[in-house]
Amino acid sequence: MRDLIIAGNWKMNKTFSETEEFLLELTKRTDDKQLNDVKIIICPPSLYFEICSDFTQDREISIGAQNVSEHEFGAYTGEISAPMLSSMDLDNCIVGHSERRKYFAESDKIVNSKIKSLLEYDIDPIVCIGESLSQREKGITKDVIQQQLSGAFKDIDLNSNIIIAYEPIWAIGTGKTASSKQAQEIHKFIRNWIKKEYSNKIAEKVHILYGGSMKPHNIEELIKQPDIDGGLIGGASLVTEKFNKMIDVAISMRK
Ligand code: 13P
Repeated sequence: MRDLIIAGNWKMNKTFSETEEFLLELTKRTDDKQLNDVKIIICPPSLYFEICSDFTQDREISIGAQNVSEHEFGAYTGEISAPMLSSMDLDNCIVGHSERRKYFAESDKIVNSKIKSLLEYDIDPIVCIGESLSQREKGITKDVIQQQLSGAFKDIDLNSNIIIAYEPIWAIGTGKTASSKQAQEIHKFIRNWIKKEYSNKIAEKVHILYGGSMKPHNIEELIKQPDIDGGLIGGASLVTEKFNKMIDVAISMRK
């Protein structure tokens, strides 16, 4: 059985003192927990990697970046590369988030280069894919997903700890969650794609997270689905009580 992953994507939120406060509270709440195969990942803004690592180093909480450059080093003002993330002992990095695809023109080809760069430095990518509302309404959701998968994983050995996050764009930050049936249908489609392109064994290993208005009140129904292995959580991961509650739900389902 795959373990469950509860990952928080903070996006561009929290000041330094708010980060410190969050970490203090979260660790206070998680220190006594038996995580029972539930993996916690926090993806803060890169400025806060060090303080996050200070809090999490002897704990079962992993730190991830929200983005990485496709280049290793050089004159790319403002960018952060995979070797830099690796030198900060980061475990994960989100790539291909729909906000980066939309605001920073991140194509499947760029996503593919970023994944390759991360794998070279032993950082596990969290690869985001998902359709827009108009694509769903046109009935082309699976075509879009298949195209994103083929583009992102071109020439990539999926036999590693790659995590896929299905994040329907229409559900992100809107309060409109995909129903568990809608989400499971696409998660199953993704797993079947992996089976076809790689193997059954790999498909059974890869974690597929759901993202898009996942909250304490709907997480259980979503992660109960056989192909949903946890969540990539935006807004609700910023509030310790909510994030902690979601970790508790995941733990209770793994007991
Ligand atoms: P929300 O949970 O705020 O909808 O964000 C989801 C997301 O984009 C996580 O990467």
